[in-house]
Amino acid sequence: MSKKVALITGVTGQDGAYLSEYLIKKGYVVHGIKRRSSLFNTDRIDHLYQDPHEETRNMILHYGDMTDSMNLTRIIGDVQPDEIYNLAAMSHVKVSFDTPEYTANADGIGTLRILEAVRLLNLTNKTRIYQASTSELYGLVQEIPQKETTPFYPRSPYAVAKLYSYWITVNYREAYGMHASNGILFNHESPLRGETFVTRKVTRAVSRIALGLQKKVYMGNLSSKRDWGHAKDYIKAMYLILQQDTPDDYVISTGVTTTIRDFIKMSFSELGIDVMFRGVDEKEEGYITNINENIFTKIVGEEHLLNFKKRIGEVVVGVDPAYFRPTEVDILIGDNTKARTKLGWEPTYDLKALCHDMVMHDIELMKKEEFLKNGGYRILNYFE
Ligand code: NAP
Ligand code: GDD
Repeated sequence: MSKKVALITGVTGQDGAYLSEYLIKKGYVVHGIKRRSSLFNTDRIDHLYQDPHEETRNMILHYGDMTDSMNLTRIIGDVQPDEIYNLAAMSHVKVSFDTPEYTANADGIGTLRILEAVRLLNLTNKTRIYQASTSELYGLVQEIPQKETTPFYPRSPYAVAKLYSYWITVNYREAYGMHASNGILFNHESPLRGETFVTRKVTRAVSRIALGLQKKVYMGNLSSKRDWGHAKDYIKAMYLILQQDTPDDYVISTGVTTTIRDFIKMSFSELGIDVMFRGVDEKEEGYITNINENIFTKIVGEEHLLNFKKRIGEVVVGVDPAYFRPTEVDILIGDNTKARTKLGWEPTYDLKALCHDMVMHDIELMKKEEFLKNGGYRILNYFE
């Protein structure tokens, strides 16, 4: 039997990497679209890379861009995929306020380019399409928790572009009978998460603070709440959505919501450090109250304990309004009943397990001298 062929846009991103690995293990041939970059941008998938001279490859990369219709149409025509996972996007909400037109082009019209290419190439009966929709669509939430029927109210250029993608996917499904579905995924994180999203920014910073490499981290809105799951669980939902006989739209979430403030406390406590917060708004700050010496010694290292103990009482978290967004999404919490009942999907990681996975990864990463030499400090200069 010939192998199933999947095409993944955004293959170099967090979800693209986990999904590629998952599909290859299932016996797929995976084609991925990556952007040309002046630096290597395939770190997350390098372990899957195969030399083009190998005869039987199950991972093949193509240069492409969501803003280039001809390029996308040519790739889809060449690959003739059974399944397309459209994961490519300018995915940072804060950055979308700085680059609204580009975001609309890549995240909105980009989806149309994929759908229209499949239609023009007469692949409507063959190719199933997954669209990476988002809980950001709920924005100024109209209902708690949010489910498939909750009205959308997007609050950023990113979310507005994704709103177009959501509806154009529904429209092509209804107009042309295409197997095109939306996964409305709530925030999902992992050790592969981009460094400027809040969870990864925090797990990197607490690791560096514990090792004495950084004094303090500056954050934005500490009171917003997110429903965080593990990306490893969420890519399985993408796969399941495309295995259904009929296309449909699904909320994928954990059903638990937590403030940024509490995620910061959780992350420090993974390293045996207790942090409390005082003050409000821009004056809010987090300071060290206690250290669990056993945990700290075991994970961070005995050689750092003496120095760190001197820091009890020190402020390690501050607020910088530069990170505030012009319009914020205050709370997201999803109702995943439909996914549980129809797809048989459920999350296997709770927030504690996710946080543990990320902090353990980052503490090891920060201990590596090579990493520091290669620009471990860069993030401090960005306002995302
Ligand atoms: P990510 O790590 O930021 O990855 C985005 C991917 O898209 C990267 O491979 C990026 O390439 C690529 N890309 C960006 N602009 C492109 C363009 N113009 N042409 C071609 N490729 C482009 O995002 P993620 O967390 O994996 O998320 C995957 C998708 O799910 C995104 O569409 C995101 O909006 C959506 N989503 C994410 C979440 C979440 O919590 N993670 C929740 C709901 C929906 P480079 O590597 O070259 O930058
Ligand atoms: N990035 C960031 N940096 N966010 C901060 C910071 C900070 O220093 N301080 C507080 N936050 C708050 C943001 O204001 C937001 O309320 C929350 O942390 C989460 O921010 P992000 O991690 O950047 O994610 P997001 O929720 O805006 O968007 C992510 O999830 C969406 C799904 O709901 C992205 O992955 C989107 O692509 C995705 O669609």
